[in-house]
Amino acid sequence: MRQLSLRLQAVLALLQNTACLGDIGSDHAFLVAAAVLQGKARRGIAVELCELPWQQSKRTVHALGLSEVVDVRLGDGLEPLLPGEVRALCIAGMGGGTIRGILERGRDKLSQVSQMVLQPNVDAGVLRRYLCDTGYSVTDETVVEEAGVVYQVMRAEPGQVDVLYTPLELEYGRINLSRLDPQTVSLLKRDLAHWRRVEMSLQAGTQGHIEERRQWVSERVCALKEVLENVC
Ligand SMILES: C[S@@+](CC[C@H](N)C(=O)[O-])C[C@H]1O[C@@H](n2cnc3c(N)ncnc32)[C@H](O)[C@@H]1O
Repeated sequence: MRQLSLRLQAVLALLQNTACLGDIGSDHAFLVAAAVLQGKARRGIAVELCELPWQQSKRTVHALGLSEVVDVRLGDGLEPLLPGEVRALCIAGMGGGTIRGILERGRDKLSQVSQMVLQPNVDAGVLRRYLCDTGYSVTDETVVEEAGVVYQVMRAEPGQVDVLYTPLELEYGRINLSRLDPQTVSLLKRDLAHWRRVEMSLQAGTQGHIEERRQWVSERVCALKEVLENVC
């Protein structure tokens, strides 16, 4: 099998050893195949919504001789799984809102799931908010950059968060903000530049709803500047 992308390597790195991994939206099934080949998962189930990637997943699993240990199923989200069948989930390469929808529709399948490694392409804050609201806490997370695109990856486990997340922690992750590794700093700097541009463009507006937006954007700019001031 060819080497995993840096993004998928980051997803796999956050996965703890498990008896059975469900890879939802498997596409090529490289992730679940690598998890089994590296001994991180004893078994795997790849789930795909669309016919072509489902066939691609089947080809990968067959070509790697993993058909005995990796099942490939066609269907929506967690729907093709039986309750209790998987102990871990990976859902990568979709928007945070899409991942939230998959988890919400499949809540009855989550009772035996002790870890979920999630990689939202966008709207990480939407996903963290959902996890907090439904009794999960983020126990590890990271930021990875590949081909100029920055991705957040998080592992969530059952357990209530005792201190509420700030808006910035929801967006970037409490652990990421406490570690402030170079990838996180580069994400924060990029977003600060973006929000400063938005702040400038809103300066001309006068309507009421623009004032609300302007305030939100100014608060975000201040919060990002404050975090970045502590970085050498
Ligand atoms: C951009 S690809 C990401 C593939 C892989 N997980 C990765 O990170 O490289 C998203 C895949 O998720 C599949 N997908 C989207 N919504 C889904 C759903 N509700 N259930 C199962 N698969 C889904 C799409 O068909 C597509 O193959």
